[in-house]
Amino acid sequence: MPHFSTTEQKRNAATAAVEYVENKMVVGLGTGSTVEFALRLLSQRVKQGLHITGVPSSLATARLARRLRIPLVPDDGAFKKIDLTIDGADEVDPKLHLIKGGGGALTREKIVAARSDRVIIIVDEKKLVPQLGKLPLPVEVLPFGWQSTAALLRTLGARIQVRQNEDKIFRSDNGNIILDCHFRRITDAPALAAQIKSIAGVVEVGLFIRLADLVIVGKKEGGVAGLWAA
Ligand code: A5P
Repeated sequence: MPHFSTTEQKRNAATAAVEYVENKMVVGLGTGSTVEFALRLLSQRVKQGLHITGVPSSLATARLARRLRIPLVPDDGAFKKIDLTIDGADEVDPKLHLIKGGGGALTREKIVAARSDRVIIIVDEKKLVPQLGKLPLPVEVLPFGWQSTAALLRTLGARIQVRQNEDKIFRSDNGNIILDCHFRRITDAPALAAQIKSIAGVVEVGLFIRLADLVIVGKKEGGVAGLWAA
């Protein structure tokens, strides 16, 4: 049986997702290496005459989209409704709850997803997990009082790592700090998301609950599988 690499799986998932993009749509553009394939494909369709307006979920995506000549909203504070968002994920559970934020863009990604009529998540097969939490859960916090915010997150059972960029503390596009919270097993993702969100100082949590409408998985044996939200 042929074995498709992770890169090929990502490309196949992105190819299938981009077919959902229609003329005149406002399209949420996620962040990460899988989305990069979708941006390149969208760029080709734009060259062939597709009219869309993109809403980028990070400065990196905005830069790449501009290079690829994908039209973007002129003012990223002024978009209202997004027709369709295409984004990646770090982990996907059987209920289509997600961990996102491996690239540090979780807050903008969540705003974009939450304002979208439809959200398509594109992943390679190894992102599918029976239970979330093997990877650390990114939580974006305000720099003000961040150590006390981290202490409160620890009381929820997390081991905390402050995300670094080389030897400095990493700053998100919003100027905030990312705390990577190692829970190992997340048994009740909606409850944990609510608990973390209620801590003062937390800007956003990388648990995406009931936001994905369709997860497109690039398969090891080739092709894709679509997992629809119940
Ligand atoms: C960015 O902050 C993340 O949420 C990404 O969407 C996620 O990490 C997936 O990235 P890859 O497609 O690079 O695996």
